[in-house]
Parts: sequence; C-alpha cells; structure tokens
Amino acid sequence: MINRKLGASDLEVSAIGLGCMGLSHGYGVTADRGDAIQLIRAAVDKGVTFFDTAEAYGPFTNEDVVGEALEPVRDQVVIATKFGFAEGVPEKGLDSRPERIRQVADEALTRLRTDRIDLFYQHRIDPNVPVEDVAGTVKDLIAEGKVRAFGMSEAGPDAIRRAHAVQPLAALQSEYSMWWREPEEKILPLLEELGIGFVPFAPLGKGFLTGKLEATYAEGDFRGMVPRFQADALAANQALVDLVKAIAEEKEATPAQVALAWLLAQRPWIVPIPGTTKLHRLEENIGAVNIDLTTADIDSIAKALAGIKIVGDRYPASYQTLINR
Ligand SMILES: NC(=O)c1ccc[n+]([C@@H]2O[C@H](COP(=O)([O-])OP(=O)(O)OC[C@H]3O[C@@H](n4cnc5c(N)ncnc54)[C@H](OP(=O)(O)O)[C@@H]3O)[C@@H](O)[C@H]2O)c1
Repeated sequence: MINRKLGASDLEVSAIGLGCMGLSHGYGVTADRGDAIQLIRAAVDKGVTFFDTAEAYGPFTNEDVVGEALEPVRDQVVIATKFGFAEGVPEKGLDSRPERIRQVADEALTRLRTDRIDLFYQHRIDPNVPVEDVAGTVKDLIAEGKVRAFGMSEAGPDAIRRAHAVQPLAALQSEYSMWWREPEEKILPLLEELGIGFVPFAPLGKGFLTGKLEATYAEGDFRGMVPRFQADALAANQALVDLVKAIAEEKEATPAQVALAWLLAQRPWIVPIPGTTKLHRLEENIGAVNIDLTTADIDSIAKALAGIKIVGDRYPASYQTLINR
C-alpha cells in the first residue's frame, strides 16, 4: 500500500481508505457485527490506515463497530467521523450549533474508544450556523486535543474559503466518481489553491461503476429512492459501465479498480474511500493502487466520458437542498 497526505495537515493515510458506512447504514442490509469487525481488521492487515464513519451511520452503531475494531491498532490508523445532524439522525434535520458539535465529539470519542478524533468533518452545511462558528468550534476542539484535523462534506467554494480562513481544512469529502464529476469545475482547483486534500465518497458510484449492481434494492436501501438508480436511468447510463469494462479489459483489471485508479490519477492528494461488506472486494478495491493509468489513458478516458451523457439526479428531490452549500 502507498500513502498519501491530506492537504497541508499532518494526516498521512493509505491511498485508498475504507468507507465503513455500508456495514451499518445506507444499503438496507447491514453486516453482522462480528463480520464487520473482522472486515475492518482485515483491511488494517492489508495496509489500509484510513477509516471513514459518522455519528449518523446507524445512527451511532457504525462508530461503535469501527471503535471496537480499531482499538487494538489505534495508533496505526486515521479515523474520520462526522457531525452535523440533529440528534445524529439525518431525517431530523441539520444541527451544527457549537454546543452540539462539542457533544458529538465527546460521544464519538466514547464510541470510538479513543482520546482523539483524527479528522472531524461537518457532514452538511447548516444554514442556521455560520461556517466561521463551526470552524471556530472545531479549532477549539483541536486546541483541547480532542480533534486533530477539520474537514467538510459537500460544501461549496464560498463555505470552504470562509471556514478555511478560521481553521484550515485538512480535507473535503464530497461525491466524485466517473459518473459525478462536478467537483472538477470549481472544487478541485480551489482545493489545490488552498492545499486541502480531497476524499471522494461513493467512488464506485454506489456500486454502479463496478458493473455488478443488482438493481433490486432491499428495503431501506437508499438507492431505491435515487433517480439515477431507477431502471430507465440505469439503462441510459449503461454506456458508462461499458466504457469502464472496456478499459478494465485492456488494463487486465476489474471495473472497480479502474474507477478507483481513475480517481487516484486525477490529483496526488485524492484519497477515495470505497465501501464494501466483503473481504474479496476489499482486496480487489485496494488493488487499484497497482493499476497504472498513463496521461494518455486519462486523456482518452476524458474524451470518451465527454461523449456520455449521464441521466438521473444523484439525490432525490427532497435531499437536493442539502448539497453543495
Ligand atoms: N459524506 C457523505 O455524505 C457520504 C455519503 C455517502 C458515503 N460516504 C462515505 O463514502 C463511503 C463509500 O461510499 P458508498 O459506500 O456509498 O459507495 P461506493 O463505495 O461507491 O460503493 C459501495 C457499493 O459498491 C459495492 N462494491 C464495493 N466494492 C465492490 C466491488 N469491488 N465490486 C462490486 N461491487 C462493489 C458495495 O456492495 P458490497 O458491500 O456488497 O460489496 C456497495 O453496494 C461510505 O462507506 C461512507 O463512509 C459519505
């Protein structure tokens, strides 16, 4: 495994991290607790040092599982978690009031069985709390030693600039993949300018880019509500999967590896966090660090991507107001 640095912070992490959400949240079916702990520990054995969770995953249970799994190797890994929802429950709305951020930090420290959160992200911008106050609160938590670094998720350029002026961000975590490339327009240049790392979430397009998606969603699977995951959109977007499969064949890799290698090739400070509940897929995904996409490959992929129009929103209408503030 090779390492990458997150922005100007002192956080050095494996070039591919593990998104732990799906073990407890988001896809309807959750992993057995023992299996989840085993998977996380297997990831450490294979060189993964960057683990992503959130208060809202479960809610609460994912942090607890991650905490138990990583307790024996705490000093070898970087744990990222997130605050920002009322009582930790996304359906209850946003809450980034300073007192709430402090409460989440304390409770997360307990669940994660640790004395510091390595990277503490604001999960979504709260329109009722100025980002300066959020950044200032995390700055205080850093001064107190409870948090090492600050991050934001799905924040827009103005919010990033304003927050960064109060407490420099180590990382932005937002969706970015071959089928959601909006960050290329304004976000990547801004992060480059400010020296902030980028952690693409849903780097496999929530499974779509792997070519293995079974479009029958379990009850509670978020994708069942997402326009982009409905049958008509999936059929319209099949050209993208075909492209990824063709590149994979040429590179003697798998589609998942191509999707991840493509992200790694965009900037040296990008660290994707694919999620899986399965050991063989974890091994496959981290193998992406060995797939070499040349500049010529990236150029020809860019040309091919420009010819594919992606159909369907990535969030249901009710969620659209939560993103890119
Ligand atoms: N900041 C935010 O708002 C936000 C939002 C969403 C996610 N996240 C973070 O980002 C992480 C990753 O995102 P994500 O899990 O939503 O999407 P993802 O990593 O793009 O895709 C995960 C899906 O792909 C499947 N998969 C994984 N590896 C595969 C492979 N090699 N071949 C075939 N299928 C594969 C998984 O199923 P199996 O489990 O069956 O392998 C799962 O259904 C999350 O775990 C979470 O930590 C953050």
